Amino acid sequence: MAGALAGCAGEMSILDPAGPAASAQFWVWWAMLGVSIVVALVLFTLWLYTFRRREQPKRTPREEQRIMLRWVIGGGVLLPVVSIVALLLFAAPTGRGMLPLPLPVGEAELIEVVGHQWWWEVRYPGENGEGDVVTANRLVMPAGEPVDFRLTSADVIHAFWIPRLGGKRDMVPGRYTTIRLEADEPGVFGAQCAEFCGAQHTGMLLHVEAMERDDYDAWLAERRVPPEPIGDEGDAVRAFGEHCAACHTVAGFPEALIVDDVTHDIVGPDLTDIGSRPTLGAGVLPMEEGAIAYWLQHHQTLKPGNRMPPHNHVDTETLQEIGAWLEAMDP
Ligand code: CUA
Repeated sequence: MAGALAGCAGEMSILDPAGPAASAQFWVWWAMLGVSIVVALVLFTLWLYTFRRREQPKRTPREEQRIMLRWVIGGGVLLPVVSIVALLLFAAPTGRGMLPLPLPVGEAELIEVVGHQWWWEVRYPGENGEGDVVTANRLVMPAGEPVDFRLTSADVIHAFWIPRLGGKRDMVPGRYTTIRLEADEPGVFGAQCAEFCGAQHTGMLLHVEAMERDDYDAWLAERRVPPEPIGDEGDAVRAFGEHCAACHTVAGFPEALIVDDVTHDIVGPDLTDIGSRPTLGAGVLPMEEGAIAYWLQHHQTLKPGNRMPPHNHVDTETLQEIGAWLEAMDP
């Protein structure tokens, strides 16, 4: 009971809705709980009733059959049909409320989210498919207006779920699906992959921040500015080019320094604004001073099985330099 009740609050509680879709789901949840309690009580009462001591009335086989038929049709057909139809009438509008309707797609703010094993890629589309702002494991959205999340996956099926805003919706490789969610007020919400997707399914957390429209526009505008090209001086820059740049993008990184001598199809998170993210490893480690270097040394212990190879061949000092350099990546 204590374990179950602990789920009633907190940043991932469906019982603490923070948007219209989640509020509608909240009432569906209570309605289903209420109906199931009533059904359970009725069944329990009937069960107790059968223990009653009484004289068996004399009935003809025909009468017996009629009574039995009444129970089968009433309890086995009518009762489930009526209760399921009632719940459906109540729940169907809730599902509809999360479809990108009635605003045509394109009128609400559009944010793309791509699921990866085991992290989230978040894209803010630019003009004509160019100049997307890309970040990872942190989703910034405007509050007080509907936002369409266009979802897909880069590998296996994941599911996008911000419990306090509503959802969830599967992210399927090779397909795009859209879910419309809204946050009533600015705030921070937890989100979690909701479809088993491999060893680190539980380590696939997303930090969601809803901001006032103005703050959101400012946040996005800051990231839309093309970054200054990064000079190729500095040990950290060269080390990053050698050990990291084959899988991780940093906008403005000198291409000549990228050493890509491995055959791989793995893409790691874009690190252009990594210093501004609240966590590392998709929610595994809080971002603080020295955290990136620590992550680079111990990531396979902190998040076993994650797709980044271990860095045993790189000395600690180099990893610390790379970490410090990345921590400063904050537009
Ligand atoms: Cu991704 Cu579970």
